[in-house]
Amino acid sequence: MKILVCGGAGYIGSHMVRTLVANGHEAVIFDNLSTGHPESIPGLPLVQGDLLDSRALLQAFEHHSVDAVMHFCARSLVSESMSEPNAYYQNNVAGTLNLLDAMRRAGVDKLVFSSTAAIFGQPQSDVIDETHPTVPINPYGASKLMVERMLADAASAYGLRSVTLRYFNAAGADPDGDIGESHQPETHLIPNVLRSVLGRGDGLKVFGTDYPTADGTCVRDYIHVNDLTSAHLCALQFMRAHTGAHAFNLGNGCGFSVLEVIESAQRVTGARIEFERAPRRAGDPAVLVASSAKAREQLGWEPVYTGMDEIIATAWRWHRDQRY
Ligand code: UFG
Repeated sequence: MKILVCGGAGYIGSHMVRTLVANGHEAVIFDNLSTGHPESIPGLPLVQGDLLDSRALLQAFEHHSVDAVMHFCARSLVSESMSEPNAYYQNNVAGTLNLLDAMRRAGVDKLVFSSTAAIFGQPQSDVIDETHPTVPINPYGASKLMVERMLADAASAYGLRSVTLRYFNAAGADPDGDIGESHQPETHLIPNVLRSVLGRGDGLKVFGTDYPTADGTCVRDYIHVNDLTSAHLCALQFMRAHTGAHAFNLGNGCGFSVLEVIESAQRVTGARIEFERAPRRAGDPAVLVASSAKAREQLGWEPVYTGMDEIIATAWRWHRDQRY
């Protein structure tokens, strides 16, 4: 199939493009390069454009006759969304609305959409499945939930087929080590831990050591980026046989605390990792762990990277020799 990958020069998008090509698909990348890296998609067709630019979108669909769209373009930092909500609603909601309009005009009826654990808000159970209430507590989560509603409406009104994949904590890098996670500024735990080993950044801080968890630090469900991309391939297959809008939670089902992540990074890197205990970060729930049973059953998806050391080893390979 030929896929338009919106946000294909970003962290998860660039891994997706690689997975598509490796599996015999064609990828066309649509990216405004605000946070993406053209170095991550060498030699592949890139349309530099913004989802807020309807004309650029329409032209992309006119020039490239695609079978489906994967949509990774978003602002995705919880704390930034609290201080700049309009930017989140504009990019994530209005931008997606433009994309849906352009798809409809072009007659493209299949979309895989990147959503987030943040749509659930404060967890009300140890493990979050798709029946968990969706009560986002920040504009980032709210913006993604709004799009999920738009997709349901577009399914009934226009026959759009969609699969929404709600990522928990995306982590790791392609095992080749030549593409990986590179944000500016970097706020995510695993990159910050590894950067501290390399003497980059301002020193590692652990945000909150008084949570109601076994060691007092937050527990998260880290899922390898290539396990996320393989779920997208399953979603493409799923949409061939299923109409309507569908949503799946994606995690590997195991929670790891911040201190467990640091211990794992010590094993992988062989370095002793120093950190400062800092106050809680606003908006962080104590525990976020996914049930991915529905994705396994209905998409036939199976994550490959289930251990933290394995995930961190791939991220370490990237960070040691970071190319962009
Ligand atoms: N953390 C630290 N030090 C750091 C960075 C993070 O202690 O330098 C802690 C955080 O406080 C949190 C955990 O490590 O407890 C994980 O933080 P990340 O920033 O790596 O990831 P988040 O859990 O905040 O974010 C993820 C996704 C978001 C999603 C959110 C839902 O990246 O897209 O979960 O809460 F919205």
